[in-house]
Amino acid sequence: MKCLGKRRGQTAAFLPLCWLFLKILQPGHSHLYNNRYAGDKVIRFIPKTEEEAYALKKISHQLKVDLWQPSSISYVSEGTVTDVHIPQSGSRALLAFLQEASIQYKVLIEDLQKTLEKGSRSQTQRNRRSLSGYNYEVYHSLEEIQSWMHHLNKTHSGLIHMFSIGKSYEGRPLFILKLGRRTRLKRAVWIDCGIHAREWISPAFCQWFVKEALLTYKSDPAMRKMLNHLYFYIMPVFNVDGYHFSWTNDRFWRKTRSRNSRFRCRGVDANRNWKVKWCDEGASMHPCDDTYCGPFPESEPEVKAVASFLRKHRQHIRAYLSFHAYAQMLLYPYSYKYATIPNFSCVESAAYKAVNALQSVYGVQYRYGPASTTLYVSSGSSMDWAYKNGIPYAFAFELRDTGYFGFLLPEMLIKPTCTETMLAVKNITMHLLKKCP
Ligand SMILES: *[C@@H]1O[C@H](CO)[C@@H](O)[C@H](O)[C@H]1NC(C)=O
Ligand SMILES: *[C@@H]1O[C@H](CO)[C@@H](O)[C@H](O)[C@H]1NC(C)=O
Ligand SMILES: *[C@@H]1O[C@H](CO)[C@@H](O)[C@H](O)[C@H]1NC(C)=O
Ligand SMILES: [Zn+2]
Repeated sequence: MKCLGKRRGQTAAFLPLCWLFLKILQPGHSHLYNNRYAGDKVIRFIPKTEEEAYALKKISHQLKVDLWQPSSISYVSEGTVTDVHIPQSGSRALLAFLQEASIQYKVLIEDLQKTLEKGSRSQTQRNRRSLSGYNYEVYHSLEEIQSWMHHLNKTHSGLIHMFSIGKSYEGRPLFILKLGRRTRLKRAVWIDCGIHAREWISPAFCQWFVKEALLTYKSDPAMRKMLNHLYFYIMPVFNVDGYHFSWTNDRFWRKTRSRNSRFRCRGVDANRNWKVKWCDEGASMHPCDDTYCGPFPESEPEVKAVASFLRKHRQHIRAYLSFHAYAQMLLYPYSYKYATIPNFSCVESAAYKAVNALQSVYGVQYRYGPASTTLYVSSGSSMDWAYKNGIPYAFAFELRDTGYFGFLLPEMLIKPTCTETMLAVKNITMHLLKKCP
């Protein structure tokens, strides 16, 4: 708690507020998410053999772990870095099993509830406004993000136009910001964040991108060129229902919130629901799985709305960029098969340069390449769909980190993560303003 000491002049004024927050954060007083993660652990193992992998899959299934990495247990094989969130009730059984089978493991997070609450202490500063009037270094709830969008639509009408492309399953509007100097028809770049609810750094990046664009339009020639020559369609929260749910009920929710007619489990993986080799390898047909592909392609209203929008505008949209976490990777098609895309060299060199630009800021390394070989094979993804539907540059970012904090990336790391990512996105955008091909 950094209430005292930092800014002397303001200490007196801050004290009552600090006291209130300290009261709220006292153990046993008011726990986030009803204390549901108390004693839960996040454990990493890397199976050394196929036998180990098989055994780990089996026990993970039995103990109903919440898989953090990779997204489906079916991906786990020899050498796969596997991070699981194990509820307190199962953690003793899992640790005993690992020791018994002498499988090496590492506890990444000892007590998930504590880590979550520690990370959220700086959120007490949520309502404090930064100099520019809005704090971009905290995570924002859906309501906050939507009122931020409304605010920008009013105050920056020269560069921003906000509209809705439909409604989510639970009836929330699906808002888009169209960013760029208003002129005749221009080419465009699509950016979406928050397809997966628990990847909070992703919507934070979309907000950061818009902030930087507005702040540097006048002073940075590259940004000016981008906004003069292109439109950016930015969807800060794709999976609005899931994101809301990850704030109110389950911090580690991934899917949408649609109901199933035959199972009690809710939600579909919005990155397996697209009509491109739908529900094949790397997707699950079971409604209770985190990679559930849905009852049919575009069954999710959020996916259908975005797909319709992209179909309608595909002649102008040159690039599709989607933001996820965590893994530190820059991925391009194909996701659903091991094959090289046509014009591979253009996309590959764009990725190579972007990753280098990103690394130049803080030295953070990203792997890059086709999603199938760099991450794993997954069918029905938005990136493959965008590419197949004529958008030549399709990328998916997996932002920081590589598992130290995982989905609980502290707010302190929003700024460095977004700063370096910004450079990568600008680099890709400048690349496609040149003709290649
Ligand atoms: C954004 O502002 C324009 C007017 O400048 C208005 O017509 C439009 O409805 C606003 N968008 C939303 C979603 O409120
Ligand atoms: C893109 O990044 C590369 C380094 O990887 C750099 O040489 C190049 O100047 C950058 N281009 C732009 C337009 O920022
Ligand atoms: C590949 O490049 C050629 C020209 O260089 C272009 O006509 C074609 O549309 C490109 N294909 C894809 C899939 O981008
Ligand atoms: Zn994701």
